[in-house]
Amino acid sequence: MFLSVVLLCLCIFFVILQLKSRRPKNFPPGPTILPIVGNLLQLNLENPLKDFERLRKTYGNVYSLFIGPRPAVFINGLKAMKEAMVTKGVEFAGRPQDMFNNEITENKGVILADYGPQWREHRRFALMTLRNFGLGKKSMEERIHDEIQHTIETLDKSIGKTMSPQVMFHNMSSNIICQVLFGTRYEYDDYFIKEVVRCFTENAKIANGPWVMLYDALPMIRNLPLPCNKAFENAKICKGLVNRLVSEHKKTRVPGEPRDFLDCYLDELAKAAEDSTFSEDKLILYALDLHFAGTDTTSNTLLTAFLYLISHPHIQERCHQEIDKVLGGKDQASFDDRNDMPYVQAVIHESQRIANTVPLSVFHTTTKDTELMGYSIPKGTMIIQNLTSLHNEEGQWKYPHEFNPENFLNDQGEFVKPEAFMPFSAGPRMCLGEGLARMELFLIMVTLLRKFKFIWPEDAGEPDFTPVYGVTLSPRPYRMKVQLRSSE
Ligand code: HEM
Repeated sequence: MFLSVVLLCLCIFFVILQLKSRRPKNFPPGPTILPIVGNLLQLNLENPLKDFERLRKTYGNVYSLFIGPRPAVFINGLKAMKEAMVTKGVEFAGRPQDMFNNEITENKGVILADYGPQWREHRRFALMTLRNFGLGKKSMEERIHDEIQHTIETLDKSIGKTMSPQVMFHNMSSNIICQVLFGTRYEYDDYFIKEVVRCFTENAKIANGPWVMLYDALPMIRNLPLPCNKAFENAKICKGLVNRLVSEHKKTRVPGEPRDFLDCYLDELAKAAEDSTFSEDKLILYALDLHFAGTDTTSNTLLTAFLYLISHPHIQERCHQEIDKVLGGKDQASFDDRNDMPYVQAVIHESQRIANTVPLSVFHTTTKDTELMGYSIPKGTMIIQNLTSLHNEEGQWKYPHEFNPENFLNDQGEFVKPEAFMPFSAGPRMCLGEGLARMELFLIMVTLLRKFKFIWPEDAGEPDFTPVYGVTLSPRPYRMKVQLRSSE
């Protein structure tokens, strides 16, 4: 009996030793790795953000976890983030492959494309097209203002009542990017926009939920009917919808006179060289990639901003005053007006900091053997940026743990942007829609706040600020009362 116990202990000891040696030499530290599942059992898979913070306190700003057999290095805090994403940007610019989300996008978009020619050409093309459609016949500002008018109509119908802003902001952000991609907008009760928004919001929660973590960690379960497979059905619906648009565009387009992103891509295909990475079968998923990236992010940021504005009426009041003073009798706000609105700018940026909309960014990989903060990280290692760790990092913010626009104002009341503000990430993979998103946030917030006052309903109890976890964080559903300011 005694011998058996000793043998068992020895076995366990050797298994642990064996496992410990799985972290390569000088690899960032982390908790003990279990066979098969790695560190998954040490995480709350429904929402691991608190666990990541706890591990940071134990192991420091650069630590590692095993998601099943796959090692992942977590980067926290400004210093490590800058070294990785900016100083060594290219070395950290890859994307993991062979994961659930790669299967959803069939490796055809730009967001999850690995570092290489396909990503480079498609990123450059998206940036150029976004820029060109901002300079074309109708400027991006005008397109955004057109869409805001539709939202104002929705809000007008709710004056004196309470309404739920969730679907409204999603429709709005979706329609703005739809105009660039497909040259059209949709009525808010149109099947296309309702379905697309439903699929996007569901997939944003599924994409890094518990089942996907297990799917990525345990290849042997991939053929089982897992709940996360719903994301494939949603992707199929969206592909069908965009496929129809591509077919219509092919029939109606005039070569060399592009009306939108789809036309531009079709023009590009016509002149593509032999070795081009452009192909018609990539177009649908590429357009969906941009549509998804531009919908759930902007709308969840707006939802957070309005949640905090209605629960901090004195901050909303100061925005009203500044907007009235700067815009005076002007018809509508322009993006340039932001330079005269330091307080509103501070409120928008503070909303983004608190919203922390893409908390873990999009996962990266290393493109070659490299080093970070003295640790060695082999080529192909998964890299997870904990953007949360920047947005509440002690020492970087005047008020790291409360909603306070002073975080973005200096002693003279001027707008300042601390270095640790990175909601769009940084480096070569940084969000390519940043310019569009910033313009949307400013014009939408200023125009709506100029006309309306938004109020937390008296009978709604205390606001719950705890976000719902996903690739994007979203506030819990809430209602707000709408009042016309001119009737105050
Ligand atoms: C408030 C709104 C937004 C936020 C907070 C946001 C945030 C992010 C973040 C954190 C990343 C990952 C960067 C990285 O991997 O290092 C990203 C990537 C990306 N975003 Fe955004 N985004 C927003 C709006 C948009 C919009 C409007 C578009 C529209 C086109 C867009 C398109 C993309 C694309 C295509 C990528 C992938 C870039 C690449 O892999 O090269 N985003 N975004």
